[in-house]
Amino acid sequence: MNDAVLSQTLPRPFDTLRAVNLTVKTWFYVAAIGHAIFLAYILAVFYPPIAQSGLHGLQGLHLPTGFREGDTLGNLASVSHVLLAVIVIGGGPLQLVPAVRRHAPAFHRWLGRSYLLAAMVSSIGGLYMTWTRHTVGNLVTQIGITVDGILILAFAFLAVRNAMAGRITEHRRWALRLFMVASAVWFFRVALMGWAVLTDGWGIHWESFTGPFLYTLGFGNYLLPLAMLEWYFYCQKRKAGQGIQIAFVSTLLPLTVFMGIGIFAATMGLWLPRV
Ligand code: HEM
Repeated sequence: MNDAVLSQTLPRPFDTLRAVNLTVKTWFYVAAIGHAIFLAYILAVFYPPIAQSGLHGLQGLHLPTGFREGDTLGNLASVSHVLLAVIVIGGGPLQLVPAVRRHAPAFHRWLGRSYLLAAMVSSIGGLYMTWTRHTVGNLVTQIGITVDGILILAFAFLAVRNAMAGRITEHRRWALRLFMVASAVWFFRVALMGWAVLTDGWGIHWESFTGPFLYTLGFGNYLLPLAMLEWYFYCQKRKAGQGIQIAFVSTLLPLTVFMGIGIFAATMGLWLPRV
């Protein structure tokens, strides 16, 4: 029997790299559905009042600092922040769909530039609001989101620099890191609500929006996705052993289930009631 026939008849060892890619694909589609729900919420809650009343449209909404008489710069930051969120939350997952890249490369490039710009302007506006207006939480939560804002700006810069230098593999890696930090605000909401449902809000003081769980999540909402991404990159390498790949799958699968629970909880408890 020659090798080709042998390879067809012998049972193949468990293909762990295939398992890694399949798990990541599943994670991505669950995350994309969750992003689409958050996108629909942003469009339904913020766009109609802003289209009707401009900056005053933020008055009476649930935002902790929304509209403030006399603070034009802060109001502009707030309005542009929620308007641009549509490009960040809607565009991020779309950029990662291989079929879009393959069949509509011009759209991919156009959306990529808009995504980068929207994420950077959103971050600058977010940093401005965090440090000039008193929002929810305390210094620890403010530092947590500030680090996220700085990472968004840094990763956007590195993604552009590598693209301009023609280093496409490096560009792709920085773009994926940018997706993780720009979507951290989405991870935050989903993990918060998933945790609240599963533990009855252990470690969360709702009135002051402080507590050990919120401090951990304030940094974990981007550090955990970034760590998983680096682990995924490592799994793709030739030298990655099967044990590492199986450990990756065994970690990402329960995280994906938790994410699914969080998406459901955030939709029912956070987003639907405000529409
Ligand atoms: C780039 C990704 C980001 C997106 C897509 C995003 C999205 C949003 C959305 C949709 C809201 C409205 C609240 C809600 O209904 O859930 C919001 C509020 C807010 N965000 Fe962000 N955000 C991002 C990044 C940031 C960053 C990096 C910071 C701070 C450094 C920040 C600070 C804030 C603040 C302070 C508010 C409250 C605004 C107010 O009370 O008027 N955001 N964000």
